[in-house]
Amino acid sequence: MKETISVLIPEKEIERRVAELADSISKDFDGKTITLICILKGGIMFMVDLAKKIKQNVEFDFMDVSSYGNGTESSGNIKIDKDLKNPIEGKNIIIVEDIIDSGRTLKYLYRYLKDKKPANLKICTLLDKPERRVFDINVDYTGFEIPDEFIVGYGLDYAEKYRNLPYIGVLKTE
Ligand code: IMP
Ligand code: MG
Repeated sequence: MKETISVLIPEKEIERRVAELADSISKDFDGKTITLICILKGGIMFMVDLAKKIKQNVEFDFMDVSSYGNGTESSGNIKIDKDLKNPIEGKNIIIVEDIIDSGRTLKYLYRYLKDKKPANLKICTLLDKPERRVFDINVDYTGFEIPDEFIVGYGLDYAEKYRNLPYIGVLKTE
């Protein structure tokens, strides 16, 4: 099957928007230390670039999750493949995700992390496909709202390919 990718968001545009998000975060947290929790693997490029532009001290942690069952089932169908390294009680936490589709992953993660009693818990996503939302979630920082297309690049993959593209593209298979 032939795969073609067309540029949806060029590198410069990502860079500009990530700097804006980092600015808002720096202001909202007013000098307080922030812990970014990267949702692997897709969130990695975004987290690294975001962290470099945040003014105050930033700590990193990582989680990897996978979902099973179909998208209309309850948000319980998530498996944690890699859990946090450090406790987050009393900390300022921002979940850093590549893309929100149904919202199932973040609905689950938000509850899971909230139970650990952080001082603050926010959600930051690079991309959002609002048309696809099934689970209601409150997103604090969004890079770009995009149409319902399959996206690759800048961390996002198709069968583990294309994560290292510096831009965000729409993948078509024929
Ligand atoms: P949700 O739980 O349905 O919101 O799905 C979110 C996860 O699905 C993201 O973290 C991605 O890993 C994956 N995903 C959703 N849409 C895309 C896409 O267009 N390209 C690549 N991965 C996607
Ligand atoms: Mg993901």
